Amino acid sequence: MVQNEIDSVKHSADVVVIGGGVIGLTIARALAQRNAGDICLIERGSIGHEASFAAAGMLAPQAEANSQDEFFRLASRSRDLYTGFAASLQEETGIDVELDTTGTLYLALTYHDLVEIEKRYEWQTAAGLAVEKLTQSQAQQLEPCISSSVLAALRFPLDVQVENRRLLSALTNSVTQLGVSIVTGTNVESLKIEKDRITGVQTSRGFISCPSVVIAAGTWSSFIRLTPTGEKPALVIEPVRGQMISFDARPQLTRHVIYSPRGYIVPRRDGRLLAGSTSEHAGFAKEVTGGGISTILKNGEEIAPSISALPIVDTWAGLRPCAPDNLPVLGPCDEIGGLFYATGHYRNGILLAPVTGELIAEAVVAGVTSPLLGPFSPSRFDLVRA
Ligand code: FAD
Ligand code: GLY
Repeated sequence: MVQNEIDSVKHSADVVVIGGGVIGLTIARALAQRNAGDICLIERGSIGHEASFAAAGMLAPQAEANSQDEFFRLASRSRDLYTGFAASLQEETGIDVELDTTGTLYLALTYHDLVEIEKRYEWQTAAGLAVEKLTQSQAQQLEPCISSSVLAALRFPLDVQVENRRLLSALTNSVTQLGVSIVTGTNVESLKIEKDRITGVQTSRGFISCPSVVIAAGTWSSFIRLTPTGEKPALVIEPVRGQMISFDARPQLTRHVIYSPRGYIVPRRDGRLLAGSTSEHAGFAKEVTGGGISTILKNGEEIAPSISALPIVDTWAGLRPCAPDNLPVLGPCDEIGGLFYATGHYRNGILLAPVTGELIAEAVVAGVTSPLLGPFSPSRFDLVRA
């Protein structure tokens, strides 16, 4: 990754963005595009090596949605921004983020699954969304790798996928070109707050004064202390571990991303086939476990039995940042002027990155909080203990 790392930490900035995952990078880019001044992105490790690196890159709001709620609207908006987002990143950086528009299949492999997909088909059709119902033979004709146990399937032509690691490289190059200062190997320990306003951040390598801070620190967001009280924010973002397997699938097994209610497989242009995942409350441990791998294999084979013959080339795990109500935490903090949250993206941070970048940057620069962010406001939690 090309990055504009600086050796000594700056002493001041107009905006500090904490966290160099997909969310922090996208916000830093959107801020720079709006001429938000001197922007400093601080990452305690190296850029793009946590949840955003571990993800599968699926951009699939329809495949998993049970209703047309506010989360669905936000996620769909973000998916629809992806075409322009990917094109502008390619233009700026020359990096193709491999936005693959083949579409997503969702399989019913049990009677219970069948009832679930029937409901999904009904409400999405009634809402005028793009969804197709396939019989067993239509599904198998489309993707011959699909198990003969499939009872029916839905096809979501607009639910797509991106190569999230290439996306991280493109974003890093883009923010570097836009003049954002990237400081790696530096932990933000606390925020300095005076008269209910942000005045700076204390890092492991010194103090940076700034009037605005965006917390985009993923599952570690609640470790950043609020001074002068020294308290951690009352908001608790918890890690939910997800393990993944990467197979060598040349020739590629499927063109579509394929989900079941229990797992998913994702084909990549370079011949890798990703299979995921698990959802585990295992603290901050990022180990890959025998139990995790065997669950992913079982659920992957249920979708496409032939994956059992494929060589495994890699395994990994990442920590999804999860708020108490499983929804993202987005927008200004009402109690502390100049403080903005962009965390808790849980299972959908890659999908939600473009809309998060746009709306958080707008809130920081213009002081305008989009109504789309209302339901995800940090003020739904008691952020600062009295
Ligand atoms: P991260 O990528 O974790 O980045 C946070 C960064 O902040 C880290 O680099 C960390 O080091 C840094 N940091 C933390 N604390 C500090 C501090 N105090 N000071 C400085 N830096 C700090 N989403 C999708 O949309 N589609 C998918 O298909 C998908 N698949 C997934 C599969 C798996 C197995 C997993 C684990 C997740 C998946 N997700 C998916 C979810 C997605 O990966 C996350 O929601 C997203 O990456 C969160 O991005 P982030 O930038 O908030 O967090
Ligand atoms: N969105 C896929 C996952 O989190 O595993």
